[in-house]
This record gives sequence, C-alpha cells and structure tokens, in this order.
Amino acid sequence: MTDQPRRAFDPTTFRDKPVSFVRRSGRMTPSQERAWEESRGDFLLEIEHGPAATSVAAGQHGNPAEIFGREAELIVEVGSGQGHQILSAAAERPETNFIAVEVFRAGLARTVIRAADAGLENLRLAEVNAPELLEHYLPEGSVAEIWVFFPDPWKKAKHHKRRLISADFARIAHRVLQPGGVLRLGTDWQNYADHMRVVMDEAPGFERDFEGEWAERFEGRVLTAFENKGIEKGRAIRDLSYRRV
Ligand SMILES: C[S@@+](CC[C@H](N)C(=O)[O-])C[C@H]1O[C@@H](n2cnc3c(N)ncnc32)[C@H](O)[C@@H]1O
Repeated sequence: MTDQPRRAFDPTTFRDKPVSFVRRSGRMTPSQERAWEESRGDFLLEIEHGPAATSVAAGQHGNPAEIFGREAELIVEVGSGQGHQILSAAAERPETNFIAVEVFRAGLARTVIRAADAGLENLRLAEVNAPELLEHYLPEGSVAEIWVFFPDPWKKAKHHKRRLISADFARIAHRVLQPGGVLRLGTDWQNYADHMRVVMDEAPGFERDFEGEWAERFEGRVLTAFENKGIEKGRAIRDLSYRRV
C-alpha cells in the first residue's frame, strides 16, 4: 500500500476521448534537426496547443484561403507518416492545396525537408491530433478529400477503442467535408477494413463511392512502406471510399 494521496482527476489536462496514437519522437540526425529548424516555419501551421501536447487549443481556427494565399481544392491526409504520399500528390497536383496531419515529429521533419527541396508551395503540415484539427480548426465544408492510409490497426480487441475510424470520426469528417467530398481509406488489416466498412456504411450523411465489396486501389496512392509490408506478408490491401451526400 502506498500512502500517496490519489491525484484528483483534472479535466483540463486530459482528453475526454482515447487517441489513435502513441507519440514517438523518432531519431533525427543533427543535419535533419538543422533543416527542420530552418524550414519548418514555411510549412508547419502555427496552431496553439491545448492541455495535451498535440491538442488544438480552444478558439484556434484556420482559413485555408489565408493559409495558402489562394482559393483551391483542399485535401487533408491524416497520419502522413514520412510524407511519401502527400509529397508525391502535392508535386503532381500543383493546383490543389494539401495539409498533412501527423504527430510523429521525425516524420514531419522528413516531410518538411523534402517539401523544401522540392519547393512545394501547396503543402502545409500540422503537428496535432487529426480529429481535433478536422473538428475545430478547419471550417465546415472546407475539405474536398480526406485520406487515411494505413492507420495504426490497434489489433487487440481491448485497443479497438483507439482506432481512428469510428462513428465519431465519421461525424467529424462529415462536418468538414464539402458536399460531394470524399473520405478515402486504405488498410492491410482485414479486421480493421471490416470495421471501417461497418462504421462508414452506418454513418449518417455518407454513401459508398464504390461498387462491389471493396473499392479499387486508389490510383493516386504511391506505394508506402506500410502498404509494401502488408503485400510482402501476403495480406490483402483494402480500399474504401465514401462520399458525403
Ligand atoms: C501506420 S502509420 C502510416 C503512415 C502513412 N500513412 C503510410 O502509409 O506510410 C500511421 C501514422 O498515423 C499517425 N497518427 C495516428 N493517429 C494520428 C492522429 N490522431 N493524428 C495525427 N496522426 C496520427 C501515426 O503517428 C503514424 O505515423
């Protein structure tokens, strides 16, 4: 037994929902650290955090037209990892604006460094918990597509509550997507794919944007390490896409 008093629950320091990540800082070489410090100001959105390190403080709002200095279609990638997908898409589609949301600092740093090398002007990054950015920071109906590719599968049943794709996420996505906007999902974990499809089939205000059991592989996706690993292990890659009606 310990005689330490139990700490009182302080609702301002904890989130009221589980998050879909365990924060890792990852290693950066000294030159990556330097490049990150030099270039992040050009790419990283300045978002004040709330009580948790990756939360979005109350009252933080971003106007995409001001952020990018132009009106254009906006695509948001949730959990952009090392940035392979969004860097390739931003380079291929200069007429579209992109926001990469990621909590893994070393992944963000690699994305920033490559974006700076490529001189991309249509890409910004956010180091925050993605559902909070979609729910509070971005205006209603401001996003054309949300991409969630190979989200952490949280394989154990006791961890399923941490999965990003949930009825709550569908509600948040519905608010921020423009009418006709699309949520694209991809995973190599069959149990998560089944879960995503049940959740999204039941989500109010969405309809399937595919025929048959699963969507075709999204042709705009590059092969990332996560997709490749799934293929190497012989797992089926499942794509889904849902349109906001
Ligand atoms: C398995 S990795 C996949 C990365 C990338 N999409 C790919 O296919 O290479 C999932 C990523 O999502 C990020 N992530 C998980 N939950 C997140 C959240 N709520 N907000 C922002 N990023 C998140 C993790 O930090 C991790 O880098």
